[in-house]
Amino acid sequence: MPYSHYAVGAAILTADGRIHGGCNIENASYGLTSCAERNAIFSLVSQSAVPDARRIRAVAVVTAGNDPATPCGACRQVIREFGKDAAIIIANTDGTVFLRTTLDALLPHSFGPEQLESPNDTSER
Ligand code: THU
Repeated sequence: MPYSHYAVGAAILTADGRIHGGCNIENASYGLTSCAERNAIFSLVSQSAVPDARRIRAVAVVTAGNDPATPCGACRQVIREFGKDAAIIIANTDGTVFLRTTLDALLPHSFGPEQLESPNDTSER
């Protein structure tokens, strides 16, 4: 995080019992910055061979100090894709837990892959 000087770590627990880490990666073209949560998720999903290996049970977001980070809107939607019922834990590097919540509480009435299971295209094929 050379530009913001705001370091974030994410740890993702998947349904197969593995824990995957990630950190925020920034870019000189600032808008291309990618959050710790998404980096961890994309890394694990790209390596997962079976559905349980990409099903997210819990996400821990960790920062230093006492001004913790909760997942941004984009990360909430990406967590939703792989973990509708995920637990979310917000903590710092000292081990203080600031918040235990759920993805559903952070992103209520969410849109997800289930919506795409029944096609709604009424045009003729
Ligand atoms: N950031 C994360 O990695 N995760 C969050 O939950 C909040 C924000 C990063 C993005 C950027 O590198 C820095 O924090 C400042 O926004």
